[in-house]
Amino acid sequence: MKEVLVIHYSQTGQLTTILNNVVAKLDSEKINVSFYEIVPDPLFEFPWEKEKFYDAFPETFLQIPSKFNPPKSEILDKKYDLVLFGYQVWFLTPSIPINSFLKSDFAKRLLKDTPVVTLVTCRNMWIQAQEKMKRLLSNVSANLVGHIALVDRHINHISVITIAHWMFSGRKDRYLGIFPKPGISDNDIASAEKFALPIERAILANDFTDLQENLLRLDAVRINPFLVRTDERGNVLFSKWANLIIKKGKPGSAKRLKWIALFKYYLLFAIWVIAPIVFVVFLLTYLPMTSKRNSERKYYSSVSLKEN
Ligand SMILES: Cc1cc2nc3c(=O)[nH]c(=O)nc-3n(C[C@H](O)[C@H](O)[C@H](O)COP(=O)(O)O)c2cc1C
Repeated sequence: MKEVLVIHYSQTGQLTTILNNVVAKLDSEKINVSFYEIVPDPLFEFPWEKEKFYDAFPETFLQIPSKFNPPKSEILDKKYDLVLFGYQVWFLTPSIPINSFLKSDFAKRLLKDTPVVTLVTCRNMWIQAQEKMKRLLSNVSANLVGHIALVDRHINHISVITIAHWMFSGRKDRYLGIFPKPGISDNDIASAEKFALPIERAILANDFTDLQENLLRLDAVRINPFLVRTDERGNVLFSKWANLIIKKGKPGSAKRLKWIALFKYYLLFAIWVIAPIVFVVFLLTYLPMTSKRNSERKYYSSVSLKEN
């Protein structure tokens, strides 16, 4: 019997449903699936209060770990043929619960020398988060063999509005009855089961060499070159804000919340003013940037990690 471990955290249940859809299609006579759900302590409440949402930014971006439930001994004591690792992006970075687990000794124990397939779900900006993920996995000597990214396919600014509605109301429905539903489409959630076949073949053959190529044939990753640029710029600016705000006090402290409010307005400005400017520059430099775009598309669709 082959052993698969699904590691996951999801506030809304969206990511867990997707992971379940994938593993439900694995041959249960040959593959045993175990689950470890990361539960942060204290919980991040959902729906979010606005202030707490933005106040989670510095610790998320600076990848500062916090407490979570340890895996049970029956999970820790097994050796896995594959780990399917589901995560979501917070502020262009793997979320706090995911980052906390990956920086722990439990991650070393569960992931060392183990093939890992990452499955990221988010609004649409996951490229630099996946680069951080690759580094976190490499630090615990895990072996990244596959990557799947599922996103909201609506245009960037529409999904900004609809995700805010979802995060602050807790309802994954059509905002004002006119906007599209936020998050991953029902169709993409259901059809995630298609990824089971190449994963199953690789596990049974114990050969992961072609797995990412096979996943890519199933549309596992789409690279949007404009979002690559925005994500890159966003990381430079977020780094300045996070390093500034972290010095202003603990989460929730009055002094820090004043800075968090400024950050919130800056974020709105960045989304509604800077991003459209980045888009114009992107269009103006479209032709000269062709070869850079092509090489980025290839690299970000792959599971390799560039040396810094
Ligand atoms: C605090 C916070 C920050 C987020 N930042 C991003 C982001 O930078 N990029 C993105 O594409 N999605 C972002 N999202 C959306 C999440 O990646 C995810 O799709 C959503 O929270 C659904 O969560 P779940 O997987 O916990 O159910 C953010 C969500 C939260 C709660």
